[in-house]
Amino acid sequence: MIGLGTNTARMTDTIFVLNGPNLNLLGTREPEIYGTDTLADIEAMLSEKAHELGVAIDFRQSNHEGVLVDWLHEARETGAKAILLNAAAYTHTSIALLDAIKAIGVPVIEVHLSDPSMREEFRHKSFVGMGAAGEVKGFGPRGYAVALEKAAAL
Ligand code: DQA
Repeated sequence: MIGLGTNTARMTDTIFVLNGPNLNLLGTREPEIYGTDTLADIEAMLSEKAHELGVAIDFRQSNHEGVLVDWLHEARETGAKAILLNAAAYTHTSIALLDAIKAIGVPVIEVHLSDPSMREEFRHKSFVGMGAAGEVKGFGPRGYAVALEKAAAL
């Protein structure tokens, strides 16, 4: 059959889910703010959601800004459909992430477990948000599922 092969279809339906610094400590990290689910719990929940939506996710975490930049580039190189990005504290500091988001041409949805705009003033500014196609914040782990629905519908 001529047309899109299965591999092509799979490739374009992959959504990167990139998590930034300290999110590897979810479960024990400030549970009164971030809850008690671990990042592995969130990944498992999101994998089920992805299956329902008929997309694949590539779920990663790094504590290093440059690694997150490299992964944003990789999303473009591999033809990812979209990216969910919880850049954690780099959200509020990283012009490098903003520049990467602007450079790659892959839609990015900003995700946060908490609502940074309701917290300390230094969390109110989002460099990621300046380049993002959308944002979901303040809904805990469920926010990742909401963001995945948005990304899958793009
Ligand atoms: C966070 C919010 C950020 O302000 C903070 O630095 C994080 C987590 C969130 O998911 O609520 O590390 O991105």
